[in-house]
Order: sequence, then C-alpha cells, then structure tokens
Amino acid sequence: MLNIVILAAGQGKRMKSALPKVLHPIAGKAMLAHVIATANKLKPDYICIVYGHGGEQVRAAFPGEHFTWALQDPQHGTGHAVMQAVPQLHPGGVTLILYGDVPLITESTLAALVAAASSGKLAWLTQVVANPAGLGRIVRDLQGHVQAIVEDKDATPKQKQIAEINSGFVACPTERLMKWLPKLDNNNAQREYYLTDLLAMAVADGVVVETPHAAHDWEILGVNSRDQLAQLGRIFQLNVANELMACGVSLADPARLDIRGTLMCDADVSIDVNCVFEGAVRLAAGVRIGPNCVIRDCTIGANTEILPFSCLEGADIGANARIGPFTRIRPGTKLADDVHLGNFVEVKASDIGIGSKANHLSYIGDTTVGTKVNIGAGTIVCNYDGVNKHRTIIEDSVHIGSDVQLIAPVTIGKDADIGAGTTVWKDVPAGGGITLNPKTQVHKSDWKRPIKKK
Ligand code: UD1
Ligand code: CA
Repeated sequence: MLNIVILAAGQGKRMKSALPKVLHPIAGKAMLAHVIATANKLKPDYICIVYGHGGEQVRAAFPGEHFTWALQDPQHGTGHAVMQAVPQLHPGGVTLILYGDVPLITESTLAALVAAASSGKLAWLTQVVANPAGLGRIVRDLQGHVQAIVEDKDATPKQKQIAEINSGFVACPTERLMKWLPKLDNNNAQREYYLTDLLAMAVADGVVVETPHAAHDWEILGVNSRDQLAQLGRIFQLNVANELMACGVSLADPARLDIRGTLMCDADVSIDVNCVFEGAVRLAAGVRIGPNCVIRDCTIGANTEILPFSCLEGADIGANARIGPFTRIRPGTKLADDVHLGNFVEVKASDIGIGSKANHLSYIGDTTVGTKVNIGAGTIVCNYDGVNKHRTIIEDSVHIGSDVQLIAPVTIGKDADIGAGTTVWKDVPAGGGITLNPKTQVHKSDWKRPIKKK
C-alpha cells in the first residue's frame, strides 16, 4: 500500500501573483502537474493533495482526476499540512510526502526512498549542499546516527554549520505517521507544527531511520520566487536537451531551446537556436529546424527543412519539404512530400499535394491543392464571405500567376493557367488554356508627377 500526500497549500507570497504558486508553469506545465505525473509513475494506491491558498483555482486545474483533496486553512506548518490529509490515508504500507513547489524530483529517487521505508523504517531524503542557509539541518550524534532535524530559525550557530539538509521528502510507515502526527507541538521559533519533528520521534521510538540522497542536487530545489521558477525551468530544459543529444539530435545550443510538451526525434535531426516546441511534435530523420521557429503539434517528415522564423501549428508535413523563412502554418494542414512554402505564406486547413509550391506572400485557406501546382506571389484564397468559410480546389499541375484572388467556393481544373492579377470567381475548366480578366492598359503621355507644394 502506497499513499502519496502532496503539499500544495503554501501561499507563495514572493511570486507576487494572482496565480497560486503551484500552478505556475515549468516547460508549459503547472509545477503541481509535474509532481502529480511523477507521483503517478510510482503507481500509488492513493494520492491526496493538501491545498489552501487559491484552493478552488488549484482544484479546478485538475478536474476529474483520481486523487482526493484536503483543505489546510489556515496554515500552521508542514506537520499541520500532513495532519489534514490523515483522514484520507489508508492504513498499512507507506506514506510518501511530496511538494507541489518542488517539481524536478525524479521517479528513481522517490522509488529508492519508498524502498528504504520498507519493513517499518523511516526514510528521510537528505542532501549535503554547499549552501545550507535557510534549510532544516540533519543533526547526528558522534557515531553519525541521525538524531533530529533542526530548522534554520531554531538552529544554534554550531548547528547552522551542518551541511546535510532536509530535502523535505520523506517516506514513513503510515501507521507510525498517524501515531506521531498528533504528538507534534508548535514550541518553536515559527510557532508551526513541523513535520521534521517526526524524525526525533522515530529515534525516540527506536525506529530505524534511513537517509538516502537524491541522485542530483537539482531534484530537491523548490520554487519560492519567479527567479527560482526560471532557474528550475532552465534545469528542466537542459535535462531534455541532454536527452535529445544522447538520442542523436544536434542542437546548436542546448541552452537556447524550449520544449513545452514532447519532442520525439529520429536520428540526425538538427535544431538551431531559439526554437520552441509545444504539444506533441515528431521530427523524422534528417529534419533541420532553422533558428527562431515555433512548432506546436506537428509531424515533420524525413529530411524536411524548416527555415528561420517559421510558426507551424497542427500540421502534418511530408518528407523533403522546404518551409520558410517566415512561413505560418495553422491547424488542419497537410503538406505532402517535396512541398515548398516560402516567406510570408500562410496556410490554414489545407491539403497541398506532392511537389507543389507557394514561395512568396500568399494566403491559402480551406483549400485542396493537387500535385505540382505553382502558386504565384501574392495569391490570396478568399475563403470567407464574411459569414461562412468555403473550400477551394486547385487540381494537379495548375499554374497560378502573381496577385490572383480565388473567390471560394471555386475549382481550378487540372493543367489550367491563371494569368497574373486575375480575380477568379467562376470554376475554371481542366485541360489547359489560360484564364484571365480582360483589363486594358492605357498610357497617358500628358500626365505629370505632382510637385510638392512650397
Ligand atoms: C521546509 C522544512 C525544512 C526543509 C525545507 C526544504 C519543515 C518544518 N521544514 O522548510 O526542514 O529544509 O522545507 O525546502 O518542514 N506547506 C503547506 N502548509 C503549511 C506550510 C508549508 O502546505 O502550512 C508546504 C509549502 O507549500 C511548501 C512546503 O510545504 O511546498 C514547505 O514549506 P515551506 O514553508 O517552504 O518550508 P520551509 O520553511 O522552507
Ligand atoms: Ca521552502
């Protein structure tokens, strides 16, 4: 039996935010969501979240999930917080305490902590750190046996020199926890019920205390301010970047990449600086992403190149395509192999066939484009009549000149050519020929350029 209690009641005053602290995102996901995801990996029987300040907002952020909530209001310390969860704990086995504002803790460190609490032992995660200021210190006797945790505000000058600190993470036999919590008092500098006093109670009761460490120092870092949020965000991103590089991805600079979701890459993908990936993105082998691209919920086929400053969302892009610079793709777009889209081309909810091109300054919306179509500069699909959207069909091997408007719904038949500057409002037959709007060109030789008035 494994109970997990996640403390998430702290106010987070130093964030200076209307958003409760645990809802602030790291890599696009609330800190508390990271902690819940890690907790779930341990396959616990029960999860209880202790919430307080901004509680309804916190609860609303996790609708329909399978855990329970315990309100802590007012807040009288970490021990008091865990007490609120006691009615939701299931006896037998172990209870693990996690923190909604310590989001980088890993599954493997926690699994080791839980394992250390087997057979009735108390397992307290500690770490030896360079700067222990502000943290609870682990007090040991001369033999090195752990005795107690003393909070920074209660510590003597000598105790303040102890470099082994309390991470806060603890795994405790549930029955013991229920017995010890009611015995906590608040006779301390902060007038709080300290969870940390459990350790001395365990020692007094002759319970063996294990003190494993986290595998990495960053796992136990908490967030109290926006700069710590940014620092942890960077650590998270660097970890993701290192995983990508280990899988054969080239990154121009692992410090200038943001993954806010999942990025799956096959071999020999290369990503230039300042790219942001959101949602679920899949890059096939040999894909190259230029600098400053934002890519959300896309799959991109092998050897396709995305040139700088492109924003792609909700697109399925084939192999050997060339997109950008400055291309915008909006959801519902499917580009076949060998498609080329260039600067200032926007495509929305359209299918574009193999080898078709729109290299400059175009809008293609709600359109089905066949294969080997060439769309000239400045072509606009007028898909919207002010009330409804309509579809446009451009069949294979059509050539569209520059500065053309296609008034949807309209179909351009196979092999048709559309002359430059044409407004197409009727279907164009297949089988060649050119469609254009007759226009006359006049020359006025007596015309004079205006002159600036004095
Ligand atoms: C706590 C530990 C300290 C440890 C440090 C690690 C205690 C008494 N002290 O100190 O030994 O080194 O964490 O960061 O446990 N919380 C509640 N309700 C409360 C109080 C806190 O839910 O009434 C939550 C906070 O939201 C936070 C966590 O518990 O997630 C720790 O609280 P915080 O006030 O930051 O504890 P520290 O004083 O830093
Ligand atoms: Ca803290």
